[in-house]
Amino acid sequence: MTVQLVDQLNDPKLFRQQAYINGQWLDADNNDTFAVTDPATGKIIANVANLGAAQTVAAIEVADQAMRQWRLQSAKTRADILECWHQLILHNSEDLAIIMSAEQGKTLAESRGEIGYSASFIKWFAEEGKRVYGDVIPLAQSDRRGIAIKQPIGVVAAITPWNFPSAMITRKVGPALSVGCAVVLKPAAETPLSALALAELAERAGLPAGLFNIVTSEDAVAVGAELTSHPLVKKLTFTGSTPVGKLLMAQCASTVKRTSMELGGNAPIIVFDDADLDLVLPGVINAKFRNSGQTCISANRIIVQEGIYQEFIARLSMAVAEFNFGAYTDKGSSHGPLITATAAKNVDEKVKRAVAEGATVVCGGQLSEGPGYFYPATILVDLNSDMAIFQEEIFGPVAAVYSFKTEQQAVDMANDTPFGLAAYFYTENMRRSWKVSEALEYGMVGVNETAISAEVVPFGGFKESGQGREGSKYGVDDYLEIKYICMGNIG
Ligand code: SIN
Repeated sequence: MTVQLVDQLNDPKLFRQQAYINGQWLDADNNDTFAVTDPATGKIIANVANLGAAQTVAAIEVADQAMRQWRLQSAKTRADILECWHQLILHNSEDLAIIMSAEQGKTLAESRGEIGYSASFIKWFAEEGKRVYGDVIPLAQSDRRGIAIKQPIGVVAAITPWNFPSAMITRKVGPALSVGCAVVLKPAAETPLSALALAELAERAGLPAGLFNIVTSEDAVAVGAELTSHPLVKKLTFTGSTPVGKLLMAQCASTVKRTSMELGGNAPIIVFDDADLDLVLPGVINAKFRNSGQTCISANRIIVQEGIYQEFIARLSMAVAEFNFGAYTDKGSSHGPLITATAAKNVDEKVKRAVAEGATVVCGGQLSEGPGYFYPATILVDLNSDMAIFQEEIFGPVAAVYSFKTEQQAVDMANDTPFGLAAYFYTENMRRSWKVSEALEYGMVGVNETAISAEVVPFGGFKESGQGREGSKYGVDDYLEIKYICMGNIG
């Protein structure tokens, strides 16, 4: 018999199916709900309130009111509440990991890792909120002083993805709350439960009502239209695909909202002949197969120099043969399913098209039969940069391996894309480490390392991979306005 999700939790109150607005748990006005499924089984695990435009507007208005008091609190008062929230997330991490695995599919080990990552943003920004400094600017007139201060930008709308259902929320909500903003969040319809559990803990931490509102909905168009057009929303932060990001930016233009966008990627991972393959293998496996390939910084193109190409393929094939795709409830699972049946089908179609264009399948390459939305670890070779798969984000456990001859050719191949989120390369050559790092047109570069994400570093992309940076000391900037004050006639 299947154990219900709520019965797997130490604290059943973390399992919420209602939206959260102004500190109240709410059904949709029309009582509509949408189903959340476990991607490993395809079974429904929750029915969540399906809000529409009117309740989105209500959440925005509530946030605007709540923020009036919050922005006047000291940074320390805000930080103390965030610190308490951070502690509660850590204290409840096992329950939060189970909720995440159930709705997203990733293994429990990966979910535990994400909960720690998610909590780290709350702690980091609790501290950074206390370091929002201004400047005193020398002016030409001796009786004047120029001052620049930073103030919260206003109500923040956040739209977050399903691949990291907790960390992509705290990376946005942490800085917003720490500097005095209020948030209206629309989590992905596939993974609203992690967001709602975070709200339950924020309330327990003492976060005043109205500052963190969650509009659950499967009507992304209706909710998105309000979040991008309402004049009280001053900033939109989005993580998701580049086409949707472009659409949201266009919608935000009519009210000139600040936007920050963390969009798609097409990450190259270059393996030079002089690389240490003992380092390369675990690095490639992390970059390609973490979250079953469903991250924006997944290695999308593995570009290997001719001299070690054959050995690399042989060793990668042996390593992936050990993978065990399965449900989070199965302790032996090393990797989870894809998020939906459509996602699995899309990956399969990309593989089939590559094969039709001349690629060879070394292993995998067949959509798994149900239950669940599994796709096997797949390695493709005999690829070139004219094929469609070179330009598209695979978002699945498919290693597309290319070969190259010279350093310049590798850099040109890596940069031959409109995307510019993350890139990686492996070499033992110091000169090459600098030169190639500087030549890659990417916001983040891993040299002999692919586990590059952390709360203390700036995450974000060049080109069509987005704008703005999340995490790090720069992560508060997008939530602040700079105000110049001229103090005149001071004698
Ligand atoms: C993402 O895929 O967008 C986030 C990955 C990360 O933070 O490491």
